[in-house]
Amino acid sequence: MSKPNERAVQRRWDWDYPIIARADGIYLWDTNGKRYIDGSGGSSVVTSVGHGVVEIPAAMLEQAEDYSFYPARVFSNARLLELADLLAGIAPGELRDDCKVWMTVTGSESTDDAARLARQYWVERGELQKHIIIGRWQAFHGDNIFSVSMSGLTVRRRMYTPMFRDMPKIPPAFCYRCYFEGTYPECGLRCARALEDSICQAGHENVAAFIAEPIVGSALAAAPAPDGYFQIIRQICDKYDVLFIADEVMTALGRTGRMWGIEHWDVTPDIIALSKSLTCGYFPVAAVIARDEIWETLRRGDGHFRAGHTMNASAVGMAAAIATISYVREHGLVENARVVGDYFLEQLRSLLEYSTIGDVRGKGMLVGFEFVADKDSKAPFDPALSISRAFSALTFERGLVTYPCSGTVRGVAGDTILMAPPLITTKAQIDEIVAILHDSMAAFEEQVL
Ligand SMILES: Cc1ncc(COP(=O)(O)O)c(C=O)c1O
Repeated sequence: MSKPNERAVQRRWDWDYPIIARADGIYLWDTNGKRYIDGSGGSSVVTSVGHGVVEIPAAMLEQAEDYSFYPARVFSNARLLELADLLAGIAPGELRDDCKVWMTVTGSESTDDAARLARQYWVERGELQKHIIIGRWQAFHGDNIFSVSMSGLTVRRRMYTPMFRDMPKIPPAFCYRCYFEGTYPECGLRCARALEDSICQAGHENVAAFIAEPIVGSALAAAPAPDGYFQIIRQICDKYDVLFIADEVMTALGRTGRMWGIEHWDVTPDIIALSKSLTCGYFPVAAVIARDEIWETLRRGDGHFRAGHTMNASAVGMAAAIATISYVREHGLVENARVVGDYFLEQLRSLLEYSTIGDVRGKGMLVGFEFVADKDSKAPFDPALSISRAFSALTFERGLVTYPCSGTVRGVAGDTILMAPPLITTKAQIDEIVAILHDSMAAFEEQVL
């Protein structure tokens, strides 16, 4: 058998990939028998229910024995209808039982299709100019070309900039490094009000939607917006006839201690993109949920949503999603994420004792911390040092998978670690994770100081 990157291309050529042998609960084993804690839930936030949940492959097998693929252009499948009803029944706020659900395969496709839906909605309503999707700097909405153009993560955008139609960006809601140098709440949430400036400058007649992650995942390592932020965003969107797309690819289905990330602000988006926790990696499935009126406008107009991929709404994937959501609800995992997540954040704050840790943040089981070269000035490390990668390699050596991110400082510097263990994680397992982080920090500071 060839080695990684000899025949099978994997992301990096500078990493010696061990071969994974098996996984159970929060643990992974490689073929040498070494055990790792899945501290970032798959590559980032995927495995909420944990590994080895037999109910999910059993549901997939049962479905696959009847049929796997079906021509979705001319048939529907019962699992799709069941999943749509299930999601509508748990959708947040005013979307509850007043929405429709569109299936796709990856998170990038769900944000891309959310943008297409916003565009088609306005076209159907005769607002032919509305095409701009405003995003935020230091946001990540996926890796296909349009998702990258809506995203504000400079390190991932640069190479492709000439290929996309760029979309306007407003500053993120990021109190640790506030773009306006304000302090919450005296700041008056200038970061939210910036949306009004951007809409007016672009011309509201041109703006179709605003997209944001309720809690910024990989770009800012679990940075929640302050209280009141999304309420202002909602008011501004309503004032200018702009749809609000919540990118819940990371935050949906319990990750943050509520079923939906946006529920922390008690605000209803018009459109939601979700993926990862929908099947927790047992099968690739993603979805777009939107207000019924949006879809009904399409039905009355073109009668056809102008999007779609061959593998959408796979019956096997639908069975996996139904089994996953049922598992989350039956095992009280949203509540566990809240309780154990609070404990995790509390324990993680002990990292602030190190001179190279400037901030610890997050909500529920989506938490992160940020490295600084100088605590007072918050100066980042030189990006050439790839500090977050170096730290992540140290935790990996010690049997803990962490997710290194960068770009908190103007998208080009600023190292962070995102942590998102499965929602089944216990407090004792959090202690084990935090102990490895401390051990890795000691080794790290020896290297860099
Ligand atoms: C917030 C957010 N949106 C979209 C995506 C894209 O999802 P996928 O990698 O499944 O295409 C990601 C992936 O990490 C994400 O974190």
